[in-house]
This record gives sequence, C-alpha cells and structure tokens, in this order.
Amino acid sequence: MTCRDRFVEGPDEGIAAAVVAGLANEVLDWRHKAIPARFHGVSAGQFAAAGVPLAELQTPLLTLDAGALAHNAALMADWCAHWGVGLAPHGKTTMAPALWQWQLDAGAWGITLANAAQLRVGRHFGVRNLMLANCLTDPEAITWVAGEVAAGARIVSWVDSLAAVERLQRVLDQTGAGPLPVLVELGGSGGRTGARGHDAAVQVALAVAQAPRLALGGVSGYEGALAHTRSAADLARVRRYLADFVRLHRALADHGLYECDEVIVTAGGSAYFDDVVESLAPLASQGVRVLLRSGAYLIHDDGFYRGISPFGRNDPDAASAFRAAMHGWARVVSRTESGLAIIDGGRRDFPFDEGLPVPQGAARELGLPLQPLAGATVTALNDQHAFVRHDPDADVRPGDVLRLGLSHPCTAFDKWALIPVLDQSADPTRAVVVDTVRTFF
Ligand SMILES: Cc1ncc(COP(=O)(O)O)c(C=O)c1O
Repeated sequence: MTCRDRFVEGPDEGIAAAVVAGLANEVLDWRHKAIPARFHGVSAGQFAAAGVPLAELQTPLLTLDAGALAHNAALMADWCAHWGVGLAPHGKTTMAPALWQWQLDAGAWGITLANAAQLRVGRHFGVRNLMLANCLTDPEAITWVAGEVAAGARIVSWVDSLAAVERLQRVLDQTGAGPLPVLVELGGSGGRTGARGHDAAVQVALAVAQAPRLALGGVSGYEGALAHTRSAADLARVRRYLADFVRLHRALADHGLYECDEVIVTAGGSAYFDDVVESLAPLASQGVRVLLRSGAYLIHDDGFYRGISPFGRNDPDAASAFRAAMHGWARVVSRTESGLAIIDGGRRDFPFDEGLPVPQGAARELGLPLQPLAGATVTALNDQHAFVRHDPDADVRPGDVLRLGLSHPCTAFDKWALIPVLDQSADPTRAVVVDTVRTFF
C-alpha cells in the first residue's frame, strides 16, 4: 500500500494564494484593536497601501517588523537547506495564513497544527501538506479528517497508544474511510504526549501495521516538552531523547513496519533545533524526509527564545541571529504614585507566561524617538493594565508611550485579530505600516 500521494509534493501550490490575498478585502472597523476610527470602512489592503505612520495607530498595540520577519524566514530556510532537512513550521504560533505563506514560499514542506479547529483554518486557506501534531481522538475530527483526505487533502497525524490506534480504527470502520497516514509519537518521562519508551512505541507501531484503515508513515516527537533551559542536564535529556528517537526509527524500518513510500521523521521546536538536526539530518541522506516543526523562530522574541534559541544567544544584531519581529506599545494612563506608571496594555494584549514585557524605551508620543526610561521594569500585569516601576526622578507623564520587548510569540498572537506590519528599515522613527497580518484563533 502506498500513501505517498497523501502527503508529498504535488504540482499544486503550498497554500491557496488567492484565498490568502482575499484577506486584504476585509473591511477595518470597531473589531480591530489599535486601528483608529478614521480608518474604519477602509479595507486592510487599502490601509496597508496608504503608508500609515506608526504615529497614527492606537495603544495598546502589537506590531510586527517586516525586516525581521524576512530575515528570520530566510535564515531558517537557508539553514534547513544547508542540512538537507525540511520544515513544517508549527502554524499554531501565529495562526496567520499570510505568515504561513511566507514560510511556505521560503521552502517549507507544509504546516503543522495542533487540533482539528486549526486544521480547518489550514484547509480553508488551501494548505497543501498538513501535519496534526497530536492524536485524533474526537470522533467528529476523525470523520472530518478522513473526509478531507478522501477529497484529496494531505494530512498526517500522530498516535501514541494502543487505545488511540484502536479508537481511530473503530471510528474509521464506521465511515469506511482510510487508510490515514499516521506517525508513532515517542514521548519521554516527565514529558507530555508520546509513547513512553522504545518498547511501548514499537507496540503502537505494530498495532498501526495491523490496522487496515491506518498506514504507518514514520516517527514523531517533541523534545521541547522535556526541557526548558540550556542547562547541561536539560541538553543531556534532549540528546538522550533524540538518540532514542533515532533508535525507534531504525527499529521500525528494520522490522519493515513502514507502509508509506515516503517515511517522515519529525521533531524540533525553536529551542533545540540544532541538536535535533545533528541527530536527524543523517537520516535525510538515507531517503527519509526529516521535518523540523519550529514555529516561534519566525517571530522570535526579546525573552524566552532570545535566551534559548540556537540563533538567539549571540549578538541579536548579528547576521546569524534571529531578530525579535514583535513589539508591544502601551501608553501611560496613570501616574499617581512616585516611581509607578500604569500603562494601558495588560494580559489581554501582551504575553506573560514566559516572562513579563520589558520596557525598551519611552517617548512623549507614538512614533517619536525612544528615550531610555531609567530603572523601568514591568512588575505585574492585570487584564487591561501593566505596572511599570521606574526611577522616581524619571520624567514620566500620562500619555507617554512605552515600547515593550515581549516574550513568547505563541501567546502574543492569540490576543490580536489584526496586526500591523511596520517597515522601519530606513529610520525607526519614520516607521510606516506596510501590511497587516490577520490571525484566526
Ligand atoms: C508538538 C509541537 N511541535 C512543535 C512546536 C513548536 O515549538 P516552538 O514553539 O518552540 O517553535 C510545539 C510548540 O509548542 C509543539 O507543541
């Protein structure tokens, strides 16, 4: 049996460019935070073409940097090409089809997603190759995916237990659909999903091989669930896991369990992709499709990923480093206590689960040159406010605007339906909107 045509290249485009382009027709209105009322009634495309200066947007605000996006996309694409590995970026980071298109145009194989609702977004925008980095257990989702595959979609999902395999097979039996390509997910002790250990994973693979409505297409895993720092202990855990991962792939290949012409092995978020490539790249020269799933790399950040990314620890201005492509902007609404400014952005606007926003400078108005704000630290976030402690002598006034470095793109994008993209390459103080990015969470 072959399932090659279910998830490999074809003559069609990686994403339906016309559907993505249609997003420019969306009319801006009261639904869009940070877009002033005078632009309501204008389409997103007209707004992007008008060269609106940063100064004309409203706080709270999240902006993207066009130059940093292009830089990060190209850096990762070049690096993957150098190592001969593919990329199926995790699309849940941005849930922004225009950015997925950017990644696909840069050579990505397809888009990874986390659940059926996200897959529906992918299908709506005509993403050619989709990976569901999870087990399908919801019967509605199983039936829907089977229907999409029967209609020509290429969707590969993961399984990590005998019970999940049995359930998938049972639901597919009811619909008569299949075979669906699946990858066996290897987990690690203390991690998240994934079969615990080599023997358990082999048992899952054997069950898939015996399930007529499933086809074993490879091995999957996520080392990012096992570690959170670059300490020696965390790196050792990641490397042990990757060695187990390769051993599992070899065992399944040796047992002749793969049922698809093309075998996929996939691991790799944005924190340890150097180690992942070191372990998995040799498989690429043996005819296996190696796919990283890094998602956060495209946006990068000024916090967690800056500290942990293989391309984040050196000088952030270096050509070989990712650049933070997102920034928050918020305005002082209250300054009634010495050394404390309350700004108009909070948990609804900015991420806070991997570190609080960091003030990068302040100005009397949006778009004016940023000045350092002495001693400024965000100490707490409420839903609509942030607490900024600063040097009591600093001249901070209501209306002042702060630019914020942010940490963790995955929990920044979900707070914004429409994000202005700035070109600030010529002069940051003359930043203008050159595009907008629409998200679908
Ligand atoms: C299964 C899986 N793969 C890949 C990724 C992407 O990792 P990162 O967000 O570090 O790019 C994630 C992120 O949570 C994930 O859960």
